[in-house]
Order: sequence, then C-alpha cells, then structure tokens
Amino acid sequence: MSSAPLIDPFARAISYLRVSVTDRCDFRCTYCMTEHMSFLPKAELLSLEELDRLCSTFVRMGVEKLRITGGEPLVRKGILTFFEAMARHLASGALKELTLTTNGSQLRRFAKPLADLGVRRINVSLDTLDPAKFAQITRWGRLPQVLDGIAAAREAGLRVKINTVALKGFNEDELFSLIDWCAAEDHDMTFIEVMPMGDLGEEDRLDQYWPLRDLRTRLADRFTLTELAERTGGPARYVRLEESGQKIGFITPLTHNFCESCNRVRLTCTGELYMCLGQEDMADLRAPLRSSLDDAALETAIRAAIARKPKGHDFDYSRQGVKGQMTRHMSHTGG
Ligand code: GTP
Ligand code: 5AD
Ligand code: SF4
Repeated sequence: MSSAPLIDPFARAISYLRVSVTDRCDFRCTYCMTEHMSFLPKAELLSLEELDRLCSTFVRMGVEKLRITGGEPLVRKGILTFFEAMARHLASGALKELTLTTNGSQLRRFAKPLADLGVRRINVSLDTLDPAKFAQITRWGRLPQVLDGIAAAREAGLRVKINTVALKGFNEDELFSLIDWCAAEDHDMTFIEVMPMGDLGEEDRLDQYWPLRDLRTRLADRFTLTELAERTGGPARYVRLEESGQKIGFITPLTHNFCESCNRVRLTCTGELYMCLGQEDMADLRAPLRSSLDDAALETAIRAAIARKPKGHDFDYSRQGVKGQMTRHMSHTGG
C-alpha cells in the first residue's frame, strides 16, 4: 500500500470496492429495471484500461476485496481482460478476494476462465426455481440457462452463493424448496430485503416487501437456527440450520440496519463513486482520472469522496409509505 488507509468520518475503514462494469443486462428483473430501460451510450463508459487504473489505485489505497457487478458484468465486452488485469493484485497479495455478482446467464462460457484467474466464490442471483415464475420476474431470463451456468461454476470449482430477494406473494411459497435445493447442491444462500431503488412505476415496493424478520420466523418452524459470528466482508449476517448444516445469510437493510459496519463504496461504469447505495451523493472520478497520467489527482479525489461518506441509508417502509427512495436503478450502482 502506498499511502494511509481509507478511513471515513465514522471511523470505518474502506476495504471493499464494488465495481459496476456495465449498466446493461440481458435480464429485466421487475424489482431492478423497467422493461424499456435506456442505457448509457457506449462512449460514456470507462475503458477497461481506465477501470484497471481506477481499481488499481483503490487497491494501492487499501482495498482488499473487489466485487465486479453490473448490470450483468459478464455481458461487458472484453470482461476477461479486466479480470486478468485484476488477477495481478491477487498474485501480489494486495487483493484478498476478487469476485463477482452475476445473474448466471453467461457462466457456462465464463466460469472456467474466471476460476483459472483466481476467482474462488461467486454470488448468483436467483429468486425462484419455477421456470414460469423465473420468466415472469426476470422478464427476459430463462431458468435452465441459469441452472446450467451454476452447474458450470461448480464444475469449475467455484463456490456459489445464491442471492434471493425475498418477495411477498412471489417466493414466499418457495422458502423451503429453495433452501432444500441449496442444501442438495451444496450452495450457500442469502436472502435480501427488497430496497426502494429506481422508480419502477407499476411495482409497489410496499406490496413486494417481505421482512426477513418474518422469513426467519418461518424458517424457525422447521429448523433450529444458530447465529454465526462468521463474516464474508459483506453486510450479510449468517445462521446455521442445525438439521441440514447449511449456512443461510440475511441482508436486512430495512429490519436491521448494518450501516455502522459499512466497509464499502461503489464505482459505476462511468467513473462515479457512490459512497452509499442509499444516498444520492457521488464523486466524479473520471475527470481526475483523465486529467493527468499520474494518479495524484485521482487519489486526492478519492480521499475527498471518502471524507463525505454518509452514516447510512434512509430506506424505511414502516409508516405506510416508502422513505429513502432512490431515483437511480440498482443496475446503475450494482447493488
Ligand atoms: P459477500 O459477503 O462477499 O458474499 O458479498 P455481498 O453480500 O457484499 O455481495 P452481494 O453482491 O451478494 O450483495 C448482495 C446484495 O446485498 C446487493 O446486491 C445489495 O442488494 C445488498 N447490499 C450489499 N451491500 C450493501 C450495502 O452496503 N447497503 C445496502 N443497503 N445493501 C447492500
Ligand atoms: N432490492 C434488493 N436487491 C436488489 N437487487 C436488485 N434490485 C434490488 C432491490 N431493489 C439484487 C439482485 C442481485 C443484486 C445485484 O441486487 O437480485 O442479487
Ligand atoms: Fe439484471 Fe441483476 Fe437487475 Fe436482474 S437484478 S435486471 S439480473 S442487473
């Protein structure tokens, strides 16, 4: 590391960078995007070389965990070149983990090369095991393709964590079938509370919201839950289901805020740095990146941004309404 670590105003050390390499996706999940999204013109995007320079600067400043997101990261052209570039930080020991969050559609093609580059563990979004419901929630996705992608990941030796957004009236009835499937396939699993990201018109967040407090209570009907102290560097808190030995994570921005231990910031594909998923404030890193060939201006801009990192989000559904709604879609900041 070249310089002092990144510490925010609330004494939180920033060691985790999430990088959205594209805002595009081959799915249109109803809680994430509208059906007719307009995407950024390609000319707006940072080049892979620029992304490399930005991420490498963060690594030099103390980032140890890099998660590549989107949109769907694996639809970005040349993405393996970028992973290859980041793999050198794994080799040097500066980076402890290089990983991605994906919808799984392209894994048959990419799992093996990713594993060869040093990716060990990936997170795959999957909200249902019913092909018709899958088509309904993702609008454009096909379940068999994703299941095949997940199988390819396991064949390549990758650990898979399934991310499931808990959706009232949608996957409540699949709670146990999803859990049993993950047990049978030996996947870890995490449930996520739906957040008010992006104005989705017809979708009413309050109607979709299934508090994980309630989901846990239902789980406890069938399993003995033991809290685990184990962390993966993200916001999930884990329990073990004693009867199956499975590890289940809960990401609960609504029912149990985890912002006090936030260790991450988010970079978009145009070089905006969001210091919080649930706030509008961001810093433009593209201008300092392009202003000079050495990284001094960039480092200054990064430190100035971290110095503005807010205490947390303001998401709240409790008073018969949605508070803290973000206008930007999840695909913009990468979740
Ligand atoms: P691991 O712990 O390494 O498995 O990763 P993670 O949980 O940090 O990453 P993942 O991409 O699986 O995150 C899952 C989802 O959790 C994201 O898509 C977001 O919806 C949510 N999430 C992650 N970080 C934050 C955060 O800082 N704030 C909020 N509100 N939600 C977050
Ligand atoms: N609330 C919670 N999670 C969301 N995701 C997308 N939109 C939302 C939302 N509004 C999740 C996806 C994926 C990850 C990138 O973000 O399911 O797991
Ligand atoms: Fe694509 Fe993921 Fe958004 Fe679904 S949730 S539309 S897979 S970015």
